[in-house]
Amino acid sequence: MERKQRLMQAVPLLLEWYRLSKRDLPWRENKDPYRVWVSEIMLQQTRVEAVKSYYLRFLNRFPTVNDLACAREEEVLKMWEGLGYYSRARNLHKAAKQIAQEGAFPQTWEGVRALAGIGDYTAGAICSIAYDLPCPAVDGNVLRVLARLLADESNIDEPNTRKAFSAQLKEAYPPQAGDFCQALMELGAIVCVPNGAPLCEECPWQTVCLAHLENREEEYPVRKEKKARKIVPVSVYVLQKEGKFALQKRGEKGLLAGLWQFPLKEGEAAPPAMGKVIKTKKSKHIFTHVEWHMTGYYINAEEFYCDYVWVSAEEIAQFYALPSAFKGYFEWLK
Ligand code: ADE
Repeated sequence: MERKQRLMQAVPLLLEWYRLSKRDLPWRENKDPYRVWVSEIMLQQTRVEAVKSYYLRFLNRFPTVNDLACAREEEVLKMWEGLGYYSRARNLHKAAKQIAQEGAFPQTWEGVRALAGIGDYTAGAICSIAYDLPCPAVDGNVLRVLARLLADESNIDEPNTRKAFSAQLKEAYPPQAGDFCQALMELGAIVCVPNGAPLCEECPWQTVCLAHLENREEEYPVRKEKKARKIVPVSVYVLQKEGKFALQKRGEKGLLAGLWQFPLKEGEAAPPAMGKVIKTKKSKHIFTHVEWHMTGYYINAEEFYCDYVWVSAEEIAQFYALPSAFKGYFEWLK
């Protein structure tokens, strides 16, 4: 069977399965492009379960694109606290201002793609889901599902593979573009899973999936070796004086740019001479390309060092966006 024919057979099977099996997720309530957009940005690199509560809280605070456009950046970051990849929040805010200025959410792929923080994948997802346009959204999950369906040997880490799959999908797009797009994601998330055996007995594509028919589903997708993460030792100083704690703002570039942290040194370091060390704790935090191996020191500070802002635990909780990497040390403040 030809690829195109196999895809065309697969589409209605997938749509019917999605109709019956789709998860009840908060961003599936309606097709408001603002709501779809926020969900797709939050879902980039982030698990559905982690996103749900953030999504509801965010929309509660910023129900429309104008509410978001009018907010202060610090508050947007605070609402994003713990979700990671904070440039997403900054771009969302920036794009909200663009949209508010233009007066309406863009209605074409080009218009959506031009917003801050939106690449080909997210533009495809928004246009499919909000407008039922035949705009493929090919992420790692979709690449895996299609590589298995078609027993395709291409390296999915090559940009050309993504382009080729995207072009083939476009030709197979049904009028229910939004359902199709989300059905592909859904299949990748709950049936055709990565890491370990896919749940083929539950799959609507059992009869058409070439990898399954050949009993080779775990040989797909083909990937190149991933580079190992860089390990960075980090010292974190939780400085306490008279119920206040020292915070500093990270630089405007690079990892966790512009967010708040306890005073910190990258690279192997001894506890500093800023006071008496009361306790220490080791912890790890994994980013995309680096791992922080942290040693935290709780220190009774000798003075209010002027390099830092000194704030109470309640103020930190309410006003300062403190990344998850420091969660374990923030526990010390309670
Ligand atoms: N991942 C990315 N977009 C998604 C969506 N709309 N539903 C479920 N998972 C997703």
